[in-house]
Amino acid sequence: MTAFSSDAAKRLAAAEALKLVAPGMRLGLGTGSTARHFVDLLGARVAGGLDVICVPTSEQTRAQAEQLFIPLATIDSVPELDLTVDGADEFDARLRLIKGGGGALLREKIVATASRRMIVIADSSKQVKTLGAFPLPVEVTPFGLEVTCRMIRATAEATGATGSIRPRQTAGGKAFISDNGNYIVDCHFGALPDPDELARRLSAIPGVVEHGLFIGVAKAVISAGPEGVEIFG
Ligand code: 5RP
Repeated sequence: MTAFSSDAAKRLAAAEALKLVAPGMRLGLGTGSTARHFVDLLGARVAGGLDVICVPTSEQTRAQAEQLFIPLATIDSVPELDLTVDGADEFDARLRLIKGGGGALLREKIVATASRRMIVIADSSKQVKTLGAFPLPVEVTPFGLEVTCRMIRATAEATGATGSIRPRQTAGGKAFISDNGNYIVDCHFGALPDPDELARRLSAIPGVVEHGLFIGVAKAVISAGPEGVEIFG
């Protein structure tokens, strides 16, 4: 028997989400290896004549969609979207998410929030009891990096979350720069005792552009694994 890979699960979840797409829809396209499957499958439907207009959440997704001749728009020219399909690094039973593993969290949150429905596609390993094993990404301005990291640390401690905070680096050891010209810091806090409160407090820090806690954003999670597809929400 062949083992069912996490990549096969991601594709299965993406194929399930594709069933939600109807002609004429305005779609948000997520970022990451799971969203990549969705864009790939959508490209095949577009090649077959499906008429949609899409807003990508990263330059990476834009490049993929362009290669597949998927019609694209900016979020400012299409400010109301019908559906966004995106991956996640973790989701819990209340559909709270950690996102930003690919560093695209700011555009992902803007696009998701501009959508009537944001649907997460994920392999079943992304489901957790408590958010936080995946380091929480936070997008920060380059100006005042050290000061902002201190404030993130203090603010997190007030919600019971402690641990190291590290500016993300590329494989070549350079600072990772987001599509928006900012840094990403990864917060290795472990289990987050109060994600809602942490999200509120992080948003109030001046140097924080956005954080990877998506709370009340996802309408459903399509999770796939060896047992098949499960839909939460
Ligand atoms: C990118 C993201 C991704 O959706 C998240 O990291 C999941 O990625 P993958 O589908 O590759 O596991 O938030 O910023």
